[in-house]
Amino acid sequence: MSAIARPKNLWLGRWGFVLAATGSSVGLGNIWKFPYMTGEYGGGAFVLVYLLCIVAVGVPVMMAEVAVGRRGRGSPVDAIRRVAREAGRSGLWSALGWMAMLCGFMILSFYVVVAGWSVSYLWKSLSGGLQADSVAGMAAIFEANNANPWNLGFWSTLVTLATMSIVGLGVQGGIERSVRWMMPGLVLMLAVMIVYAMFSGGFAAGVDFLFAFEFGKLSGAGVLAAMGHAFFTLSLASGAILTYGAYLPETQSIWRTTLTVAICDTLVALMAGLAIFPVIFANGMDPDSGPGLIFMSLPLAFQQMPLGGVVEVIFFLMLAVAALTSAISMIEATVAWLNESHGIPRRRAAWGVGIVLWLVSTLAMLSFNLGAEWKWGGRHVFDWLDFLTSRLMMPLGGLGMAVLAGFLLRREAMRDELGLPATLFTAWRLVIRYISPLAILVVFLDALGWLGGGFDWRWLLAVPLAGLVVEGLSARRTGDRQA
Ligand code: PHE
Repeated sequence: MSAIARPKNLWLGRWGFVLAATGSSVGLGNIWKFPYMTGEYGGGAFVLVYLLCIVAVGVPVMMAEVAVGRRGRGSPVDAIRRVAREAGRSGLWSALGWMAMLCGFMILSFYVVVAGWSVSYLWKSLSGGLQADSVAGMAAIFEANNANPWNLGFWSTLVTLATMSIVGLGVQGGIERSVRWMMPGLVLMLAVMIVYAMFSGGFAAGVDFLFAFEFGKLSGAGVLAAMGHAFFTLSLASGAILTYGAYLPETQSIWRTTLTVAICDTLVALMAGLAIFPVIFANGMDPDSGPGLIFMSLPLAFQQMPLGGVVEVIFFLMLAVAALTSAISMIEATVAWLNESHGIPRRRAAWGVGIVLWLVSTLAMLSFNLGAEWKWGGRHVFDWLDFLTSRLMMPLGGLGMAVLAGFLLRREAMRDELGLPATLFTAWRLVIRYISPLAILVVFLDALGWLGGGFDWRWLLAVPLAGLVVEGLSARRTGDRQA
């Protein structure tokens, strides 16, 4: 199909892409962030808006990324340059690839710290170090874990080492081989957790909390957070999905595989909610305790339940596995770029990147102890990395991708790559041209503070309507319809 580049690496197995991309998207975002955000933004209404964002923005942009990756066959920088040139556009669009690569690197710099928490909690739950008699007691354990830079640094360094070793082993021998057993393992552990939650006595309350759509609870801030999270959870605009798409064989359908990944990601987030909230409710705790939800409230809840100790180990193991399969995808783009464009052997590239990563992540790690006072504009390094990536770079990158795929690349090129049935392709194009970019713009402006707290989410409904009108008018003018 695409004549512009020869693939160097391809997934070996039929499920290679789906497993690796699901491994990328299912991560701390699903098991740590999604539950606590749902708790903070009021449950079902937030879940519904999040699902809408996944459908209206996440999935279309994800398809575009995989299509661009496969057609351009390379790291984000090279792939985007190739597809842009193929369409007669400026090679400068590769700047989008640079931003994505940087974004993946920056996310990983703070992600290894949270992943480090997960591994250290796995260790604590195995060695009996997670005992307290109140949430405050659990919070003290959490604080103590953070306070010692040597301790915290040890765990994040461990995650960095594991990540770089897998990536250094290559696309098939490292990434594909590891996700082939880690992903089924993860699903199995999640299933155990849910069965356990069913017998916890809080299941009905948990289901109710997640799926009772109370619109009164919905706020503008909740809508915007849902949109940002849709990007984060699907690993968009960070080079991960695009690069994995570059390894997708021609014979596999982009829309089917991508949709499978997005559905799996969403299911895991919901299932994580179903595993966590019942346990929280069964112990009479509050769901809105924020980022500490799974590190403070949850261990305390487990401690009060039969078999809780075993399930706790399973939970933190699951968290560590989910984090690792995401971590490798964040840095693959950079390693692939060094390898392909600069001829640096993969293993050496991985260790080189690993050293730089370790330095930056150490700064992020120090935000919790020695560097707690190193703040600029009210944020320390950890918060800056999180803020810059999920609130600014991801929306901006997603916007760029939507504009590129919707307006600038050739319509036929996209149609060939995606392989969607005609009506669905028309729908995809409509969404990626009008709905996704405008919705992203709203989030982006909010992140910059222009919309302030007074944003009324109902304005978002105007976005698809405006898109339909514009599309209808332009179709009439250009005779686009018969194409
Ligand atoms: N999707 C991952 C998660 O939910 C995070 C991620 C972001 C992974 C960007 C890769 C790239 O945890």
